[in-house]
Amino acid sequence: MATTNQVGVNQHGYRTFQIGHFSFSRDEYFAHIEWPGGSHLMPVDRFLKALMRDVAWNFFYGIVNFDEIFGTTNHYGTVDIFAGLYNAGYRAQKKEYVENLDSVKARSIFEEMLDDWTVEGFDPFAAPAETGSAFGPKKGNNTRAVKRARVVAKRMAGMKGDTPLRNDQNGFPVNRQFQDVAQDEPEVHAEPGFEDEVHAFNFFGYLSRSDVTWNPSVCSAVKDSLVCPTTEEFALPVIHGNDRVEWFIQLSDEIQWEIADRDSGAPRARAVMKPGDVAAMPADIRHQGFSPKRSMLLVWENADPSLPELYARKKLKPNPVDF
Ligand SMILES: [Fe+2]
Repeated sequence: MATTNQVGVNQHGYRTFQIGHFSFSRDEYFAHIEWPGGSHLMPVDRFLKALMRDVAWNFFYGIVNFDEIFGTTNHYGTVDIFAGLYNAGYRAQKKEYVENLDSVKARSIFEEMLDDWTVEGFDPFAAPAETGSAFGPKKGNNTRAVKRARVVAKRMAGMKGDTPLRNDQNGFPVNRQFQDVAQDEPEVHAEPGFEDEVHAFNFFGYLSRSDVTWNPSVCSAVKDSLVCPTTEEFALPVIHGNDRVEWFIQLSDEIQWEIADRDSGAPRARAVMKPGDVAAMPADIRHQGFSPKRSMLLVWENADPSLPELYARKKLKPNPVDF
């Protein structure tokens, strides 16, 4: 397996990177990707926003399409990096290209690329209205932003020894678009001996203080059941291809989803989700969300590692409910 090579700095001041037989370079406006038999470019802001999620989520569940051409498929230990693999046009011409790589090695190169290509003032996790420009020649970096750890609660946010709740003091002020969200906290009166077992917090207050967008974070975990709320604004920077069912509960405002066949990209549905709406996104789709203003979404993930194979072998129906 080929590994990383730093092959120098280009005239724009950016390093170029090699992963397997893929090479990556950026100029002032675009990320350029080349592989044996093909090449592609993406606006660099879109590329970095997608790369940020792929790195922070450790390739996430299933497929992270950076756009209609390029992306990764998580095999949980190894990862496919592909071009055109889930694009009907590329497939029809047999122009798709894919390499399977060790996840740890691939991710570490992606991390280096993200850090090198993200300039001072640009935060790939932030809403467009809350960050500076990704464009131009190499100028500084934003390592603090790109090394943000994804929140992963062991039991529940705010419990003893677990990921902390957010407040003004620890650097999480209420977002500009959630100023109307109440910040009072519930009172918890646990029986003696159960003080570390009984817990509650203001979930809306917690989410109103999220400093990132499109970043489902694990706020409570019961075995494989992961409650992953997130705040959304503008467009989901990846087109996610599911390898299991995902339940969505729209907690505030509105998200419009474009839903397509996971493998071909053929359009299947549009879903306009308003507060209180619940959707079970099937295991065989890809989807991208658009949130006209900052909204709150609860993503409920089932982390059972046997699920992708059960769906792939059609032991489970891709939709969990029939109406
Ligand atoms: Fe998804």
